[in-house]
Amino acid sequence: MAAPMCGRTCKIGPSILNADLSMLAAECQRMMDSGSDYLHLDVMDGQFVPNLTFGHPVVKCLRPKLPSVFFDMHMMVAAPEQWVGDMADAGADQYTFHIETTDDPARTIRKIKEAGMKAGIGIKPKTPVHLLVPFIDSVDMVLIMTVEPGFGGQKFMADMMPKVQFLREHFPDINIEVDGGVGLATIQECAEAGANMFVSGSAVVNSDNPRETIQALRNIVAEAIQKSQLER
Ligand code: DX5
Ligand code: ZN
Repeated sequence: MAAPMCGRTCKIGPSILNADLSMLAAECQRMMDSGSDYLHLDVMDGQFVPNLTFGHPVVKCLRPKLPSVFFDMHMMVAAPEQWVGDMADAGADQYTFHIETTDDPARTIRKIKEAGMKAGIGIKPKTPVHLLVPFIDSVDMVLIMTVEPGFGGQKFMADMMPKVQFLREHFPDINIEVDGGVGLATIQECAEAGANMFVSGSAVVNSDNPRETIQALRNIVAEAIQKSQLER
């Protein structure tokens, strides 16, 4: 039986990691014009993950070009507290750090909120979900990675779905985001498990028609919600 579905709005947020980064603002705009709800911006420092992307100076340049878009910063960095002030100043809306990177997640969450951003906390595939539990009441979103963080275009790990189910069963109102390999073939199981924020990178960015793809993703989620409501 499907896990109880959230009472929350379901949102699709493209990751622009695999977009043409030489025209980042235009690519972000293209995603928003195609019906995205928010943008998931992947920051990598070459330490927490074996890849590099961009940091707050780029976010600061993007902000005036996309004034009303919700920037969900996925901070794949070894020292998350180091960048809180700069990201807030750059115009980030939400700052999602990884639990694996800090000894004191509560302090990191406090700093993020004091800086005026929403706080998200994420886990890598090998990290047990129960470690998130003490922090859920103080964050705005939890992120369940469905690939090893570092690169777009990897294969979705369906064995992460029990983590999503566990969280949805115990925390009916929390925003649960899934990230990695989420696309037309995999979003249904994410929605049925109870996720309500869906990061989709290559599936949307590389699509010939991102608008149609986003709409198709949305339809699959809506069907999954309907199904889970009928089963309840
Ligand atoms: C991976 C990133 C993801 C990734 C998603 O480390 O956090 O956001 O770019 O891209 P796809 O959907 O292609 O896996
Ligand atoms: Zn991400």
